[in-house]
Amino acid sequence: MNTGDKSYVFVSDASDVGWARRTALELASALHFTPARAGALATAVTEIARNIVVHAGRGTLSFAPVTDGMREGIVTVARDEGPGIADIARAMQDGFSTAGSLGLGLSGAKRLVDEFAIESAPGAGVTITMTQWAKNDPRDE
Ligand SMILES: Nc1ncnc2c1ncn2[C@@H]1O[C@H](COP(=O)(O)OP(=O)(O)O)[C@@H](O)[C@H]1O
Ligand SMILES: [Mg+2]
Repeated sequence: MNTGDKSYVFVSDASDVGWARRTALELASALHFTPARAGALATAVTEIARNIVVHAGRGTLSFAPVTDGMREGIVTVARDEGPGIADIARAMQDGFSTAGSLGLGLSGAKRLVDEFAIESAPGAGVTITMTQWAKNDPRDE
């Protein structure tokens, strides 16, 4: 059940996935993310939360503000204690799915955020850490 806390989201059904998406968007708005960067984070969060529901059954997402001295950002940590992923490299490939679906969730999420890390072991669940900065890196412009 999700109520007022904007930093921690329990995920076990589609409405929780929507709650996680809206939570990410609200935090991004508060930190003055560009619309493109907020939308990219929201889509990545949606895919990772949906994977928890579909492939693990239940799990949690937590959101925390970060800064690198130049920019603010959000670190999202998704955790579940489901079956885990035996071959992470394979699961990260476009089109790989054990559920007969599109297989674009993990690979898409990785492309949408600035930093993406995934840890898993069979039987030990999945932990995904994503960092998204509010603005483009001024050093790239
Ligand atoms: N939280 C998770 N727990 C267990 N397996 C997962 C999890 N997330 C992803 N996977 C595995 O990685 C595969 C690829 O995920 P994804 O790219 O989102 O594609 P899809 O969800 O369409 O299958 C899934 O089919 C599943 O085997
Ligand atoms: Mg998926």
